[in-house]
Amino acid sequence: MTCVYIDNQPVEVSPGASVLEATRVAGHDLPALCHLDGCDANASCLCCLVRIEGRAGAVPACAATVSEGMRIACQTPDLRQLRKLAIELLLSDHVGECHAPCQNTCPARMDIPDMMRHIAAGRDDLAIAAIKRSIPMPATLGRVCPEVCEKACRRAQLDQPAAICQLKRAVADRDLASPHPYVPPQAPQSGQSVAIVGGGPTGLSAAHHLLCAGHRVTIFEAEDQLGGRLRRQFSREELPAEVLDAEIALILRLGASAACNRRVGVDVTLEELCSAYDAIIVAAGELQPEQAARLGLAADGGRLQVDATTRQTSRPRVYAGGQSVRPNKLVIYSVAEGERVARAADAALCGRPPASHKPFESRRPRYSSDEVKLLRQSVAERPRLSAHQLPILEAVRDEAARCLACDCASADNCKLRFYADAYECDADRFRGDKRRLAPCLEGRHAMLEHGKCIACGICVQIARKMGEPIGLSFHGRGFDVAISVPLGHSLDEALTHSTSACIAACPTGALSAPRRNSAVDADDPPPCTSEKHSCQSV
Ligand code: SF4
Ligand code: SF4
Ligand code: SF4
Ligand code: FES
Repeated sequence: MTCVYIDNQPVEVSPGASVLEATRVAGHDLPALCHLDGCDANASCLCCLVRIEGRAGAVPACAATVSEGMRIACQTPDLRQLRKLAIELLLSDHVGECHAPCQNTCPARMDIPDMMRHIAAGRDDLAIAAIKRSIPMPATLGRVCPEVCEKACRRAQLDQPAAICQLKRAVADRDLASPHPYVPPQAPQSGQSVAIVGGGPTGLSAAHHLLCAGHRVTIFEAEDQLGGRLRRQFSREELPAEVLDAEIALILRLGASAACNRRVGVDVTLEELCSAYDAIIVAAGELQPEQAARLGLAADGGRLQVDATTRQTSRPRVYAGGQSVRPNKLVIYSVAEGERVARAADAALCGRPPASHKPFESRRPRYSSDEVKLLRQSVAERPRLSAHQLPILEAVRDEAARCLACDCASADNCKLRFYADAYECDADRFRGDKRRLAPCLEGRHAMLEHGKCIACGICVQIARKMGEPIGLSFHGRGFDVAISVPLGHSLDEALTHSTSACIAACPTGALSAPRRNSAVDADDPPPCTSEKHSCQSV
């Protein structure tokens, strides 16, 4: 074995091992973005920099070999800063958005592209599941939401925004009318109980999410039925009572108890709720100062004061959200608040730290006019679905297929995003002209987005090792280097049986399964389904 010193700690590794391996043995996780075990070192990203005693400057750990007694500096502030700059340089030329602008704009952050994909593929069962992960009452919201997300829809730059809200409503209406409406999965019973003060949109949404998390829920409502402002703010034409009732019934079916005609602070005190329940969520809508005072919680006028992260009020185990904290007329705001306060209470009930961190998000500006022109070459203009077409299944699917699928396939497993987050990178540190939208290469089983490629060459090596007759190659030089398919060939011809291995090994979302919305062909799966993250055995 070879003994080296990482930040003065002795570490033993096999002779001939890379310095990167030694840092891993020492427990460090360097952002080795262009490295894959078993592949030749490319050393192009410079994100794994360390210092080796006796060598000038910082060197890539992936390309250096250990020698007996080598002294390596790994976690010094200046090296962290250098690695951070290297990641930020990659981001300066990165064209991609981790989540679609519609999702980032939706107050409930509903996974809209996912819903669109499922609708287009005729999988309403998966579409309603995607919707209800964020929005427990989509048939209601589909009628009363002013389509906040559609204001950010990229499709609007081509012709008209995708009819997100109407599609959500169409799926939810069909689900409600079906013999067995969708019931979300529920975690095993936690044995914890939560009292929710207020049966309006925030309280109902909080109830849904807490029930899914396995808690017992009782909703205390001052009126004689649940619904809160949803029953007052809209006409029957806008929101038929049957629709609201049906969606409330689904929440109750998850196991919620409703205690109607019970005014907290009058018929039952907060004190009593605190004795009987493990947590209390105040979601009582806009409060008058005297109502807030009656609850005995710190308030600014009628607004309850809460900790921004834990959502806890001035009283332990009592949380608050929605209009009781910050008035907002939008129902979707209240529904989103219901989820946030439920997640905060759930974290406290389960002894988890509250989620305080906002993960790194790569964003891109609106399309330039040149980009729109380029897009028009591959996307035909199509009119948006009109309201009277909502009951027509084919029209709804066609509308979903208008979605440009702006999200990134790798948002949850992208190494670039992971390390950009870990190093608290600023994607805009190096401002300048980013690459413009390059035409994507699309095949039946894979899609190559040049704007997200860091030219690590891992896919080139994997395709070669797996014996692809054509494979992938680099073209261009310096900053313009890019991965491409040899001239005259398609992506499908280039990757015949190594597609899945290449997709799995790509450190970003540059290589992914096709994203455009169209019916998925279950009889035509990708040619190789192995999930390799190392090319040692290929
Ligand atoms: S490749 Fe990574 S950083 Fe880029 S948009 Fe996708 S998830 Fe975000
Ligand atoms: S085109 Fe689709 S993914 Fe893109 S913003 Fe519009 S709805 Fe969202
Ligand atoms: S497409 Fe290939 S070269 Fe580009 S980042 Fe992915 S694996 Fe690396
Ligand atoms: S330079 Fe070492 S992983 Fe990229």
